Amino acid sequence: MKIHWFLPTGGDSREVLPDGPNAHWRPPTNNYLAQIAQTCDDLGYDALLTPCGTACEDAWLATASLIPLTKRIKFLVAFRPGFLSPTLAAQMASTYQRMSEGRLLINIVTGAEPRELNRFGDWLDKDARYERTGEFLDIMRNAWTGEPYDFEGDHYRVAQATTREVPTPTPPIYFGGASPAAEAIAAEHVDVYLAWGEPPSMVAERIERMRELAAAKGRTLTYGIRFHVITRATSSEAWAIANDMLAHMTPEAIAEAQTDFSTTMSEGQRRMAELHSGDTAGLEVHPNVWAGIGLVRGGAGTALVGSYEEVAERISEYHQLGFDEFILSGYPHLEEAYWFGEGVLPILRDQGLIEGSTAQPANISTFR
Ligand SMILES: Cc1cc2nc3c(=O)[nH]c(=O)nc-3n(C[C@H](O)[C@H](O)[C@H](O)COP(=O)(O)O)c2cc1C
Repeated sequence: MKIHWFLPTGGDSREVLPDGPNAHWRPPTNNYLAQIAQTCDDLGYDALLTPCGTACEDAWLATASLIPLTKRIKFLVAFRPGFLSPTLAAQMASTYQRMSEGRLLINIVTGAEPRELNRFGDWLDKDARYERTGEFLDIMRNAWTGEPYDFEGDHYRVAQATTREVPTPTPPIYFGGASPAAEAIAAEHVDVYLAWGEPPSMVAERIERMRELAAAKGRTLTYGIRFHVITRATSSEAWAIANDMLAHMTPEAIAEAQTDFSTTMSEGQRRMAELHSGDTAGLEVHPNVWAGIGLVRGGAGTALVGSYEEVAERISEYHQLGFDEFILSGYPHLEEAYWFGEGVLPILRDQGLIEGSTAQPANISTFR
């Protein structure tokens, strides 16, 4: 099992909404992102998911700047294939592997919201965008093999695509998308299929279907899930923080977010929004799974809330459903990386669910 954290390249805060009086917004400076990356490097997280979109810094450049400041942590770089030439992407990834000594993972984002896609010059409809993602992945992967690759499709035509050297290792391809078009592309082309944190009943059915779709292509996928997390020594401390966050979400902000979600073109976003429908009651949609964050935040909207033991138990439950990778985050990302890293990671290590050892103080006491 792998546990990843999230790099907030759009800025960070103590609250979900960054502009409230208690939010204390932090800009995504190189120094601050380095603090998070170094903390996660030391605590034993596997990689940092770095998002893409207008609201955040470019993930390739932001993470590349952190390579020399960290030792082992990997970077899960999100980007939209769209207009980036697949051969250029193959070259960037190949260079990244040499510059970072193999620390790149890739998250392919096909995108859903026209407003955002049009900004980048992308006007294709959804089915065509996913089709293009499939062609893109086919070319990028083949450009990494060391054998020049020819391809002619509906969206790209390349001759002799290759890179200067084969990247080592070949970057694994992660991918999120809950619509039928997304599932079909994932089954055929990707290594790790990602879901936002839905309750087990909703997500189990998707894993089952993905397994069948992948098997029909002679493939097996790994599954990853994305949650926020609020964890403390006791359950009541963790829930007090969740309730406090909820208390700072204004009715106006909640209403505004629902208007936004109601026009979403993303199936994944629609599923997140349906967990609460804008209602502040009944947000614990499964034990320790809280849909409160999604009241005002797009994308990942659920948090694992509870004591260290409860959160470890919940992770174990999702692991049994078939998830081998967990991408976590919390507000603020630096402090919450410590709470989870010092509270829950040692439990998962003791249970043999993740590798590595937990740091212990030296066995000496000289200052009596
Ligand atoms: C874990 C995860 C991370 C994602 N990260 C991003 C991101 O950084 N930027 C973005 O625009 N979309 C992101 N998405 C959205 C999807 O990649 C996809 O474009 C969107 O869900 C629309 O597809 P759908 O209608 O098939 O669900 C993410 C999705 C998941 C599950």
